[in-house]
Amino acid sequence: MNAQVEQYGVIGHPVAHSWSPFIHGMFARQTGEQLVYRLHDVLPENFRAYVLDFFSRGGRGLNVTVPHKVAAAELANQLTPRAERAVAVNTLAIQRDNRILGDNTDGAGLVHDLRDNLSVNLAGRRVLIVGAGGATRGVVAPLLVLRPAELVIANRTAERAHTFAADFKDLGAVRGCGFDELGGGAYDVIINATSASLAGEVPAIPASVIKSESLCYDMAYSKGDTPFLKWAKESGCARAVQGWGMLVEQAAESFQIWRGMRPQTRPVMEALRERASA
Ligand code: ATR
Repeated sequence: MNAQVEQYGVIGHPVAHSWSPFIHGMFARQTGEQLVYRLHDVLPENFRAYVLDFFSRGGRGLNVTVPHKVAAAELANQLTPRAERAVAVNTLAIQRDNRILGDNTDGAGLVHDLRDNLSVNLAGRRVLIVGAGGATRGVVAPLLVLRPAELVIANRTAERAHTFAADFKDLGAVRGCGFDELGGGAYDVIINATSASLAGEVPAIPASVIKSESLCYDMAYSKGDTPFLKWAKESGCARAVQGWGMLVEQAAESFQIWRGMRPQTRPVMEALRERASA
């Protein structure tokens, strides 16, 4: 490994289409930081040995994506409180004592995007998260900090949503339910945290959860509208947004953990939008 330039990267499987090298490359240029950021496509059975080897050879930090976020939480020597809550890690950083720190910046990324980029105030609002898998795990606690009137987690498999809500109920007004229990009126913010988009599908939730002024937010992103965004717009939503902002904001949080400075996110978001619409 080149000793002069500090090594970072993203580890996942598959990971070839990740935007993270582009994002962190822009952050590094913007801040004048010298670093290398690479893709690491690693199978689950090789994850632990690969990460330990990366750090033992001088690597400084890794972003962790599907399917390794839980394994990364198990591997870390120390977890931040938010990663401990999420039981999932998307950022690993080597510390001065050579212990590996695990953090989760997904929730902070979503909150930054909602609050700072989209000017959404969640306090006193009705918020619906659709899905109770890995993507939901990292964001429930940071959303509850913003004191919504109610945070409902709805999942195709209702049982998972109930378990989830029970795990977080000490933090605020959170409740789990199945899709068939979503008849009780519209929500101010509806967040799609399912992996349905990856299969070109839309979760089977009733259109009555949407009112024209609802914000519909898809944590997934793609060139053009995701299936969830198309469905939201067809169902009368005037403001449907995909998760480019969350992607860039969670990356900025990781960059800050590694390099001690938070880069500006707006120019990177603009560059990404341009690339994604090209
Ligand atoms: P990951 O860790 O990648 O998020 P996961 O833990 O399996 O994967 O979570 C995927 C989430 O998307 C789950 O909430 C899943 O619902 P189930 O728990 O009922 O499986 C949800 N999901 C995936 N495809 C879906 C679809 N077509 N409709 C609705 N929900 C879907």
